[in-house]
Amino acid sequence: MRNLLVTGGAGFIGSNFVHLMLERGGFERLVNLDALTYAGNLDNLSDVQDDERYVFVKGDIRDADLLDELFARYDIDTVVNFAAESHVDRSITEPLIFLSTNVVGTQTLLEAAKHAWKLNPADKYSREYRPGVKYLQVSTDEVYGALGKTGMFTETTPLAPNSPYSASKASADLMVRAYHNTFGLPCNITRCSNNYGPYQFPEKLIPLMIHNAEAGESLPVYGDGMQVRDWLHVRDHCSAIATVLEKGVDGEVYNIGGNNEKANLYIVQLILKTLGKGEELIRHVKDRPGHDRRYAIDNTKITTQLGWSPAYTFEQGMAETIEWYQTHRAWMEKIISGEYQNYYQDMYQNV
Ligand code: NAD
Ligand code: TYD
Repeated sequence: MRNLLVTGGAGFIGSNFVHLMLERGGFERLVNLDALTYAGNLDNLSDVQDDERYVFVKGDIRDADLLDELFARYDIDTVVNFAAESHVDRSITEPLIFLSTNVVGTQTLLEAAKHAWKLNPADKYSREYRPGVKYLQVSTDEVYGALGKTGMFTETTPLAPNSPYSASKASADLMVRAYHNTFGLPCNITRCSNNYGPYQFPEKLIPLMIHNAEAGESLPVYGDGMQVRDWLHVRDHCSAIATVLEKGVDGEVYNIGGNNEKANLYIVQLILKTLGKGEELIRHVKDRPGHDRRYAIDNTKITTQLGWSPAYTFEQGMAETIEWYQTHRAWMEKIISGEYQNYYQDMYQNV
């Protein structure tokens, strides 16, 4: 790994990954390609913008000409694709953009990597690539669908996505699989559970609830709030991706999770308790259509085969995360004072 192309690096997980990689080093340049949609925020990266190893490019992963130019200009040998539409609720109201960005965008990026890295691009049978190249697709446990009360997702669990978001991520994964199997492109797919931590856009459960609790506003819990997610600190997700870049076997899928299953209601209560607020702020609202009941990741493969393990306990991670949002009110205010107001009014009109 010498020159990395990180896509979607101005979003939540991508910006945490850029921070982690610049702290760790071991490469020459990191190019962050991000379209700066509503979810992209350069404030997440203000402290690294002058780092000489770091380059930001505003652009779209569906722009094939731009991709060809970036691969050539920066001699890219490693791609980590975070760029995506990432919010389930938005995929219910606007599915098409999820297909376009998540599926067509991924295919465009795969094609650019194949074109740049294949030793003999004119030969359709050739499976030889420059040594050391790697395409890593950042995917999600949501591609596996929903679990009942027991069981966990392994890498061989059949794909059974339920939302337009997870269907688009599963489709992108299948395209990565096809580029590996048909063209021999060196690829990995990682499938991580729900992330929490700094710089998360406040449409997602944890930052939304922290903000509303602090502001003394209602906390909208979908349905009975007993849906279970398997939470992982974003830095642990990023360290797992770095591990897969370093040691992942080409063509393999790696699930990432930290064995932290929690019901949504438990998380909301924990946030209220930590902030010294009362549970009367909780408002049960109409459930999300097609809401997956439970996710849980079996992380045996990445822990035993690649030696990765999470560093954060849930208690420590949540305490630090709540404090981060308390000490970064200006970051939050800037986001929620803009277009976010319209989204919130539309989404939570009866709350
Ligand atoms: P996010 O919505 O915070 O960030 C997405 C970023 O992608 C933004 O900076 C946005 O501007 C950029 N982007 C969107 N469309 C683009 C395009 N066409 N071209 C270039 N950039 C574009 O998302 P996130 O929560 O950081 O998730 C990152 C990735 O991780 C996604 O692929 C998501 O599916 C996956 N993932 C997320 C979670 C989670 O809990 N958040 C868990 C597992 C996997
Ligand atoms: P979210 O952060 O949107 O992640 P995902 O849907 O990808 O798991 O939601 C996490 C859980 O919290 C999910 O079960 C939906 C629930 N939720 C609420 O109950 N209220 C809310 O306002 C939001 C945003 C989510």
